[in-house]
Amino acid sequence: MSNEIRFKLQGGGRLKGRIRVPGDKSISHRSIMLGSLAEGVTEVSGFLQGEDCLATLNAFRSMGVQIEGPVDGNVTIHGVGLHGLKPPVGELYMGNSGTSMRLMAGLMAGQAFDVTMTGDVSLSRRPMRRVTDPLAEMGASVATEEGGTPPLRVSGGRQLRGIDYRMPVASAQVKSCVLLAGLYAAGETCITEPAPTRDHTERMLTGFGYAVRREGNRVCLSGGGRLRAARIDVPADISSAAFFLVGASIAEGSELTLEHVGMNPTRTGVIDILRLMGADIRVSNEREVGGEPVADLTVRSAPLRGIRIPEELVPLAIDEFPALFVAAACAEGETVLTGAEELRVKESDRIQVMADGLVACGIDARPTTDGIVIRGGQLTGGAIQCHHDHRIAMSFAMAALRASGGITVHDCATVNTSFPGFAELAARVGLGIQVEAA
Ligand code: S3P
Repeated sequence: MSNEIRFKLQGGGRLKGRIRVPGDKSISHRSIMLGSLAEGVTEVSGFLQGEDCLATLNAFRSMGVQIEGPVDGNVTIHGVGLHGLKPPVGELYMGNSGTSMRLMAGLMAGQAFDVTMTGDVSLSRRPMRRVTDPLAEMGASVATEEGGTPPLRVSGGRQLRGIDYRMPVASAQVKSCVLLAGLYAAGETCITEPAPTRDHTERMLTGFGYAVRREGNRVCLSGGGRLRAARIDVPADISSAAFFLVGASIAEGSELTLEHVGMNPTRTGVIDILRLMGADIRVSNEREVGGEPVADLTVRSAPLRGIRIPEELVPLAIDEFPALFVAAACAEGETVLTGAEELRVKESDRIQVMADGLVACGIDARPTTDGIVIRGGQLTGGAIQCHHDHRIAMSFAMAALRASGGITVHDCATVNTSFPGFAELAARVGLGIQVEAA
């Protein structure tokens, strides 16, 4: 996040071709965590070599896990077993990555040693009590700053006990944190979620031979088991594909195929929402890879219409709203989002930062406490401050396809957290994008 990187975008254009976007961020994180704690050698392919997942990888390396790669998305992890980690020298730096910090809080709570986890300016502002509260109920000691923000100081050597936790927010990070702490807890740990959230942790635990019981919105496991090494083929990230789904939908004359996209039903809300808006997205070559559904997606441009976004789809598209707001800006009529206050505590306040950016490009976008109202119109050129938020940067890059003038997006370095090579890949299929270092 140190050097300023700017995206300079030409207005107009269309997207054509066939691409595979990088690996799924959520699955890549979990592959390192479970692979490190398994017994045996875990081979990962399709790993996302973005800064967030590398923060997780480096954290486990510094706790004594031998990890080879990543080279072309291949990683080999020599698992040390659930009790084989060594105390790190110094703090664990998680960069921009909320997933690393929140999931690892659960794992670190079960260790015999103390750990401090830190992050960059954005992560240092994000709420952590959502994980430290249930961990405290389990008997862990995890201290935050006064406002409930990082650094997290985990005191080791506590015997954790299983809890039956009803999550107040629909958060896969919280669910995963508690489940991972549950691996170290005496007895059974159960979590009930208010709405379905991504279930990669549950699926991957099962893939590593760990018994996980699921009944509707409740998931349980018992501590004291073992993880057995597995092979993991990480699908392309639907959250990265989302920028292209929106770009090709809004830019007339586009036709783009996205290959090998993860289609886990807890992640496909973006497709449902775009289709409700009138998008033309076809799913083909559906298959299952290592316990996760994948498919190829072909998207053709189509006239979009504004909709009221069904609230039950919010957790299933939680990372895709910046891109969806750009679709709404290009749609006929008004799009209304409610029930999405979580967007205010992501890498940036995504409701406010997107509204400011859309207004700067001539769109009527009105934030509400838990969502936004966007009236579709003609995007003009403009200058966007993305507040170091990767998904906002990539969303406005796609917005340029429908803008009457050029768009400059400032502070784009964090695009490397989730989508290294974004600009090159987007340029290859027709986006008029140039990267400038200040
Ligand atoms: C993630 C869960 C989501 C998502 C984040 C990754 C995960 O966060 O926004 O990018 O890998 O579990 P919440 O669970 O806090 O909504």
